[in-house]
Amino acid sequence: MSLFPDVQRKAQDEVDRVVGPNRLPEFDDYENLVYIKAVILETMRWMPVVALNVPHYATADNAYKGLHIPKGATILVNIWAILHDPEVYPEPECFNPDRFIKNGELDQDVPNPLNVAFGNGRRICPGRWLSGASLFITIASVVHTFNIHPVLDANGKTFDPSNHEIEGVVTSIESIPCTVTPRSPKAEALIRSNETPIQTLK
Ligand code: HEM
Repeated sequence: MSLFPDVQRKAQDEVDRVVGPNRLPEFDDYENLVYIKAVILETMRWMPVVALNVPHYATADNAYKGLHIPKGATILVNIWAILHDPEVYPEPECFNPDRFIKNGELDQDVPNPLNVAFGNGRRICPGRWLSGASLFITIASVVHTFNIHPVLDANGKTFDPSNHEIEGVVTSIESIPCTVTPRSPKAEALIRSNETPIQTLK
């Protein structure tokens, strides 16, 4: 949100319209928060969490498009390349949730990145439903109640995540310098009214 203020503004406009100022977003709002859904899709596409998936292993000899894949071969699926294919997602380096929206709905003709970002086959991520729900409620709640602003560096430039990646199986970047403030006194009151004690599992 700090890197793409226009996206933040559009997301805030949508939650203001659909949810209104008197409550936090709920899961029942999901169907009506089309732009938030598109933000989730674009987030998972633009910087997939597991860029090369985890290694899979061929249990039998196989052939794919003329290539022989011997039994025992290790296979890495290039999730990053699939989700940055300019034929499928024009200008793939641009963070643009609108690429998934047509006539106010999710465009079913644009391949859904969630079908790729969680891996494939029998070992596909079993946490994908929990992740989707968590992304939705977190993104909707945060944009509803907070403004996230970039902190400029000494040269007046915003943070460029591509210069701050941390190597590893899971894509991560260094902390993005930003400020997070309540959008309004009413938003702050809403946040405080929803404070609940942390419960531990027994
Ligand atoms: C945005 C969040 C997440 C992403 C992008 C993600 C992605 C992935 C990917 C790409 C794999 C490898 C799938 C394959 O082998 O083809 C995987 C495996 C796995 N994920 Fe996730 N994951 C996420 C969140 C979670 C969560 C929240 C949980 C648990 C609550 C979870 C549990 C697992 C487990 C247990 C496996 C191993 C499955 C197996 O090998 O059988 N993941 N995940």
